[in-house]
Amino acid sequence: MSAFTVIGKGGREHALATLLARTQTVYSFGGSDAIRAIAPALDSGRSVALDRPLEDADLDALLSQPDSTLVFGPEQPMAAGWVDQIRLKNSDVHILGPNQFAAQLESSKWWAKEFMIRNSIPTGEAVRIKSIADFDRAALRFEPPYVVKADGLAAGKGVALFDDVAPAREFVDGIVSGDLFGTPQPALVEEFLKGPELSIFLLLDGQRAMQIGTARDYKRAYDGDAGPNTGGMGSFTPVPDISAADQETIHKSVLRPILEGLQRDGIFYRGFLYVGLIRTQHGFRVLEFNVRMGDPETQAVLPTIGDDLPNLLEWAAAGQLDRCAELSNVEQEEENFYRLQPQHAAVCVVLSTPEYPGSSNGSQPLPDLDTQTAQLPQGHYLFHAGTRQDQGEWHTHGGRVLNCVATGSSVPAARNSCYALIEQLRDLPLRHRSDIAAAIE
Ligand code: GLY
Repeated sequence: MSAFTVIGKGGREHALATLLARTQTVYSFGGSDAIRAIAPALDSGRSVALDRPLEDADLDALLSQPDSTLVFGPEQPMAAGWVDQIRLKNSDVHILGPNQFAAQLESSKWWAKEFMIRNSIPTGEAVRIKSIADFDRAALRFEPPYVVKADGLAAGKGVALFDDVAPAREFVDGIVSGDLFGTPQPALVEEFLKGPELSIFLLLDGQRAMQIGTARDYKRAYDGDAGPNTGGMGSFTPVPDISAADQETIHKSVLRPILEGLQRDGIFYRGFLYVGLIRTQHGFRVLEFNVRMGDPETQAVLPTIGDDLPNLLEWAAAGQLDRCAELSNVEQEEENFYRLQPQHAAVCVVLSTPEYPGSSNGSQPLPDLDTQTAQLPQGHYLFHAGTRQDQGEWHTHGGRVLNCVATGSSVPAARNSCYALIEQLRDLPLRHRSDIAAAIE
């Protein structure tokens, strides 16, 4: 048996901790009450700021189980340099997460864009904007709608689309002045790309890569992709409209150049990499990289990996992903590149407060989730995304509260099971979209 420490507190991390804890010892750091209930907290329940460098006492606490593999959930600690701090203190610890330099693939949109341009990875055209004068020049080059991005991390609020120049200019002004996200930072204006999106999840060990899943998420709050943007209201895996020929194209034009580019540019990358793609009429383009798994995509993808999950994470963190060649459900695409065949399809539906993405009025009591979780049939999961425990009772704590997940032999089968499970959950003061994975055959 191995040991893992899961860092982070959302539904993605609860899924990681839950699935690993089935067969392994799991600790948590910066976790939620639900995570701490299955994975003892190395932080002793103290609140840890994930977006700042670790204080010495917290670093010591995190390394108090030095034989456990550290698995980073969210991007902020990697962008804040935790991996570098840990390495300086103990170079033997196995870590699944990139260092601060490599984490710029997510923490600086322009850095990522330059990486793609240098390595001929197809992506939309973009201009870096440091002032309103830069924007006024750039606006002449692009057709509406205008895609504007903050260069740095912005808690999911750094990307916006505008039909008109004036509000785009105002958004840029807020970014470069610091009024919107605290500190002044550059912005990007990008070419608008149209088409279906898909996410590919890679696991890298510093030298090799494995595709562990494909997924699509639903960002809008309401059915029919209506309403405001959210952190994600549901997801499904695998993406069925990707043919073998598409997969081959994506591999050759995107995934292989990523691995080669990391090596050519001397970027040591060990951890998850989320490749956000769009299929345009001119072919696949990379929209973004994230140095983590997606949320709520993780909650669907990880259950499809089955019992191999701990081994894969351990091998990647130890720089030994080639050991996966012994698994029957792994295909070797080419030297140093593997693809995992999912064992199932899965659908995740997010149960949120009625007000989400607006904030709610306080915390609402939830029914006995522990009994409901204990009674779940095989292949069904109820992950906690935003809950807290008060005197033994569960309460809402945040907008996205629970993630209901079911696996199945196909996406429609998983979808039926997932919605049937939601029907059975009683007395929840929560709402959900009813069309997750609806149009998928
Ligand atoms: N679901 C999108 C993300 O995790 O960034």
